[in-house]
Amino acid sequence: MKATAIAHSNIALIKYWGRAAVADPGLNIPLNDNISFTKNSMIDDMKLQTITTIHFDEIYDRDSAEVNGEKLSGRKLERILRVIDVLRSEAKSNIKFRMKSINDFPTQAGLASSASAFAALTLATASALGLKINREQLSTVARLGSGSAARSLHDGFVYFHSASSHEQAFAEQICEPGHCDMHAVIAIVDESEKKVTSDAGHDLSAASPFNDIRIQRSAEQVMEMRQAILEHDFSAVGKIAEANCKYMHAVMMTSEPPLFYWNPETLRIIKKVMSLRQQGLETYFTIDAGPNVHCLCRPEDVETLTIELAALEGVKKLIPVRPGRGAYLADEHLF
Ligand code: DP6
Repeated sequence: MKATAIAHSNIALIKYWGRAAVADPGLNIPLNDNISFTKNSMIDDMKLQTITTIHFDEIYDRDSAEVNGEKLSGRKLERILRVIDVLRSEAKSNIKFRMKSINDFPTQAGLASSASAFAALTLATASALGLKINREQLSTVARLGSGSAARSLHDGFVYFHSASSHEQAFAEQICEPGHCDMHAVIAIVDESEKKVTSDAGHDLSAASPFNDIRIQRSAEQVMEMRQAILEHDFSAVGKIAEANCKYMHAVMMTSEPPLFYWNPETLRIIKKVMSLRQQGLETYFTIDAGPNVHCLCRPEDVETLTIELAALEGVKKLIPVRPGRGAYLADEHLF
């Protein structure tokens, strides 16, 4: 009863920000339908992935979990138990486990490490318990750990449904990674842990006077985005993604208390992206709950864009990524 899964993080093109008002907010049901692509890094020293091994066995007298060498307890352990307990009860098992996980990228820096973490955990746990569950159902379980993790189970471009029930709030694939020719260069300006997690940020969104407008516009943009991806219209995807990102940050900045995730370097990159576009290099920015920026571009522009961004003050690292593989099982275990 041991399994190992590998999962990658994803970048939202239509953002999830704020949870649906259902009886149990812990269900992490997004307030609005959203879209992402699962990203695979194009450099070996930072694959932006999580590897997780879980082993259920009678030899363990208690549940234990370790992430990047840190033994989990309290809220962190509870969060992973939410996912594991649903699957344990589905398997009608109460066997204890040992879990070990390794992330190869800075946690909590707006690169969605919990997305890959909970996608890998969900797939590994379901497999170790011998459960046959399809990806859409698995995505609802991953969502209990982290909303965006629901999307990381799938390859390529992914649609995550808002809904009024747990079962209906699932993520499904829109199309394969290669369908829409698009890459991104992630500009890392700060690798430290963010002070307000997305978990806490979701609850603040309702206090912004712009929240309703964002939800209303996102409902239109999510349909336009889906269409643009299916028509592999890079310009439309970029324009809608950038607009949707600005709406989310407007909500964040006008919440109570306000959330300013940007650094001066973030704004420097935004301005660079806009000026490069004027000069004919078509690139668009999108930013999650952190200061780092994803610059969307065509595959043939990755190199030039990387050179342009590297010249900016405060840019610490550049990671080229492309739409890629979702969560999958591996034969080699961590213990
Ligand atoms: C801004 O609740 O999924 O990235 O669990 O911290 O990864 P974490 O965040 P989650 O919220 C994601 C918020 C977002 C936008 C998005 O990915 O849609």
